Amino acid sequence: MKKNIAVLAGDGIGPEIMASAIRVLKAGTKSVSTEFEYVEYPFGGAGIDAAGDPLPDETIQACQEADAILLGAIGGPKWDQAPKRPEQGLLQLRKALNLYANIRPITVPDSLLPLSPIKEAIVKGTDFVVVRELTSGIYFGEPRSLTDEEAYDTNRYQVHEIERIVRKAFEIAQGRQKRLVSVDKANVLATSKLWRKTVERIAKEYPDVTVEHQYVDAAAMLIVQKPTTFDVIVTENLFGDILSDEASVLPGTLGVLPSASHSESGVSLYEPIHGSAPDIAGKNVANPVSMILSATLMLRQSFNMDDVADQIEEACYAVLNEGTVTRDLGGTAMTSEFTDAVIEKLS
Ligand code: NAD
Ligand code: IPM
Ligand code: MN
Repeated sequence: MKKNIAVLAGDGIGPEIMASAIRVLKAGTKSVSTEFEYVEYPFGGAGIDAAGDPLPDETIQACQEADAILLGAIGGPKWDQAPKRPEQGLLQLRKALNLYANIRPITVPDSLLPLSPIKEAIVKGTDFVVVRELTSGIYFGEPRSLTDEEAYDTNRYQVHEIERIVRKAFEIAQGRQKRLVSVDKANVLATSKLWRKTVERIAKEYPDVTVEHQYVDAAAMLIVQKPTTFDVIVTENLFGDILSDEASVLPGTLGVLPSASHSESGVSLYEPIHGSAPDIAGKNVANPVSMILSATLMLRQSFNMDDVADQIEEACYAVLNEGTVTRDLGGTAMTSEFTDAVIEKLS
């Protein structure tokens, strides 16, 4: 059996961490019967440079036909003034593939406890999932306008868009500790009032899952104050973006957090939660764990290859445990050295 993986390395550290993840994937899957083919396509700033568009036609078509998509990161100062920025290409890709469910697991493995800026007693055992709505809300609502005098965006949610992400979160909670926290700003926002009402209604379909509502400001505080109290968080697009970057403080870096994005029935996309890190790009110092773990999410969620995913994850954590860590975690290991060490564990 052959699986076609569309590889969108993107910009900044994207190509560096992608090269690392693909080396690890190749090492981890070398003795399985499934054959993987990795084909790169231009995307983001690299898409603008190659084809004048952050999401060239060739790239979107290849993504639609692929068995899974691996995405590095996009964006950077070079393209910040482009008529169509790399970030727009990313939003267009998510929308075109209907990738409404963005799953962001937040875990702090014991090997990272000493490196976390938060006290070990608070952070030990952190293991929750942010389920972020990804194709609607203020990122996509119309109208929007920007002049020198005034600017506005529209936060709009249709009830069916809330229903499907909330159901997804309940299903994920059912496979975990059955505790769901829905995050909103229902004391102020109309969209949040509809969100909360919808969660209450859908909750009746999942009586085995306990549901709590939190306002986003309080949730932001609780995520760093009592991270182990969370199991599954479901929230709208913008809040999920912000809270998941905040949650990266728990493991101590954005460089270890992966994500998976799913549609109702089409291809899924796997990408780190962080960006292209222009400040460290091209230096072989980026932490590739976020991309490697995104690849293991692909193995699990697109190909049911839990065994290989387990082996790769264990290899990463073992290397971290030995103190081979990149600069973001206070170490001196280069991206390539870390990758070599993971591959050695796999062989
Ligand atoms: P960023 O996530 O790129 O970087 C934030 C900080 O985290 C930086 O100090 C960076 O060095 C560090 N960091 C991130 N990933 C790391 C890794 N793997 N290893 C070590 N350190 C890492 O956010 P930013 O600087 O605000 O944005 C840079 C660009 O990335 C912008 O153009 C932004 O729009 C874009 N962006 C893209 C994505 C994506 O492709 N999905 C996500 C977020 C931001
Ligand atoms: C992310 C990023 C994107 C987002 C940007 C680059 C459009 O921050 O994937 O988290 O806000 O969704
Ligand atoms: Mn983000």
